[in-house]
Amino acid sequence: MLVTHNEGVWFHTSDGRRILDAGGGAIVTNIGHGRPEIAQVAAEALTQLDYVVPVFATEARVALVEEVSDHWLPDPSWRCVFVSGGSESVDAAIRVAQLHHVACGRPERHKVIGRDVSYHGATVGALAAGAHNRRRKGLEQLLPSMPKTSHHDPDQLEKVIEVEGAETISAFIGEPVIGAAAGAYVPPDDYWARISEICAQHDILVIADEVMTGFGRLGKKMGHEALGFTPDIIVAGKGLGGGYVPIGGVYCHPEVVEPIGKTDLALMFYTFAGQDLCCSVATKVLEIVRTENLVDRAAVMGESLRIRLEEEFRDHPNVEDIRGRGLLQGLGLVADRETGAPFPRSAAFAESVANAALDNGVWVYPSGSGVFDDAVMFGPPFTVEEDHLDQMVYVTRQAIDTVASGLK
Ligand SMILES: Cc1ncc(COP(=O)(O)O)c(C=O)c1O
Repeated sequence: MLVTHNEGVWFHTSDGRRILDAGGGAIVTNIGHGRPEIAQVAAEALTQLDYVVPVFATEARVALVEEVSDHWLPDPSWRCVFVSGGSESVDAAIRVAQLHHVACGRPERHKVIGRDVSYHGATVGALAAGAHNRRRKGLEQLLPSMPKTSHHDPDQLEKVIEVEGAETISAFIGEPVIGAAAGAYVPPDDYWARISEICAQHDILVIADEVMTGFGRLGKKMGHEALGFTPDIIVAGKGLGGGYVPIGGVYCHPEVVEPIGKTDLALMFYTFAGQDLCCSVATKVLEIVRTENLVDRAAVMGESLRIRLEEEFRDHPNVEDIRGRGLLQGLGLVADRETGAPFPRSAAFAESVANAALDNGVWVYPSGSGVFDDAVMFGPPFTVEEDHLDQMVYVTRQAIDTVASGLK
């Protein structure tokens, strides 16, 4: 399959097919494809400036900092650093957390606690912080060992801290709603409040990995807001550039970075951090989300999608769970919903369902790892219409039925 062009909620292939982007690529394309105003901003940006070393300010960099801190972060005083994507942002956040403790005179605090179901990216640091077993496979010996706690029981964090020793821990990292490793798993209501409370008691920084949930995806501006907590550090990428440019960011409460600023410690930049073209385009993407009220739209269309999913899959023998928030919705897939028994991994059920749906003109995002081994996620552009929702649910239903009956 060769993808040739895209527009709205569609991408097109060289054999003349039009495919509905129900997965928003990899949950990225928040404003939809092919916006001419974005192409124009990109052309103007490149006409004005190409490469500028990240330590200098430019108009585009300043504009993006203002857009993000004034409209998206918990408070305009938060500090921003832009990078080229999600994995880079996670690595940088881990470094910031460590530098914070070193600057505060606690250099022995170096461990980052992750969760037993999670994905934070594909660099060595991000893979180590996460627990996506299929994506870590073959690399286990390379990856530094990082402690893990439960994705659903916040009180287990106390036990992990006790075993590791609070004085050795710099940060806790988690996705507000778990994406690639769990297919849009939402933790119990009190989960994040309790995690935040435990971390605060032990001077452990909370890093919210909002690479997938940030910038409107959950029907609120940011995922932590949707889940009712305020982290110390946020990382977010994907929807920030809407798929038009590779960009991510690390956003910190001022008290996290101020101690670092009083020392000779520094966060080494990536060469392409805050590239001008990326900053200009990301500013325009976020402006479009705001001026077209697309966050509210993500909430409304997410609800509409959820109702359809409930109607279609409530009693489906291979759907164990319907989950998610806003326009990040998922189906937990199993061999038998009564017993919860999974399909054997060799069947690659989620991937096969995604392929079958693709053959019928819909791209859904296969996901899952460990206890959530097979899932598919829906994360379409916020501009999605009701008839698109009908199509994605109908085609997914057919795909699940076809693949499941082939395995009997
Ligand atoms: C929650 C989360 N963190 C980090 C990443 C890594 O981002 P990237 O693939 O842009 O490096 C992803 C990618 O799926 C993600 O979902």
